[in-house]
Amino acid sequence: MKDDIGNPIVTDFKLDEALEWQMSRAEKYCLIGLMKELSPDVAIEIGTFKGGSLQVISAYAKNVFSLDISDSPKAFLASKFSNVDFVVGDSATCLEPVFDQINQEGRRLEFILVDGDHTRKGVYRDLETIFAYPHKHPITILMHDSFNPECRKGIRTFLERHPEHVTYAELDYVTGAYWHNGTYREMWGGLALIQYNPDKAASPLYINQSQKYLFESTYLHSAHVLKDRLAFLFPLKRKLFKALGKKNKTDVYHDF
Ligand SMILES: C[S@@+](CC[C@H](N)C(=O)[O-])C[C@H]1O[C@@H](n2cnc3c(N)ncnc32)[C@H](O)[C@@H]1O
Repeated sequence: MKDDIGNPIVTDFKLDEALEWQMSRAEKYCLIGLMKELSPDVAIEIGTFKGGSLQVISAYAKNVFSLDISDSPKAFLASKFSNVDFVVGDSATCLEPVFDQINQEGRRLEFILVDGDHTRKGVYRDLETIFAYPHKHPITILMHDSFNPECRKGIRTFLERHPEHVTYAELDYVTGAYWHNGTYREMWGGLALIQYNPDKAASPLYINQSQKYLFESTYLHSAHVLKDRLAFLFPLKRKLFKALGKKNKTDVYHDF
């Protein structure tokens, strides 16, 4: 494909080309590198989709819980990954029981990829659920789409209000871009990195945004200036497409 932001990459990791991976080249290198370094005992992924990122997490973690609100990923991926528990449902309700299970089994949760509900509220709620739990071990949290204005707002406001257990936070650990499924001037991608440590004493947190000015100037030329203000109309648009029996080409996460 021309102008492909995600392919090709050069790596000794044996990628399964059949598993669509919704990340840019830089994000893929980052995830592979981080996973190699961390080799987590247990990892969680919120947002399985077609298994692209899961193949890397599953290769380096002993066990993985991969959550998706859709039951499709479990149906087509379960036979491919023997160390993955597929959890079907909303992360808002499914995360806590997963934390309980890991805790009861005496395992170490060491890595979470947050890549599920990309609304400001959804991102905020995922972080809220993660931080509300009495974890025993440090966790590296990677948040995809930190370059998207709504996601970024969700991450930033959460961290501003809940700096307690955070030892390091960078919203532009990997910078995002104008890119996504053929949409026009929408800002997507980017990885935020949050280091969580339950033993960290309360102290002020500096939230790194190493590409703040890139983010701000890109935003001014983006579709989000208008589009995010009209987001309340999206459910209506989805209903209309459904009533007309049409598939909305940019709405790739519904009915896949
Ligand atoms: C961007 S895709 C994940 C991409 C995948 N991590 C990758 O890199 O290839 C987002 C996924 O999150 C799922 N999702 C959306 N809202 C969710 C929620 N509240 N709880 C769990 N999964 C959700 C969608 O069904 C979709 O499959």
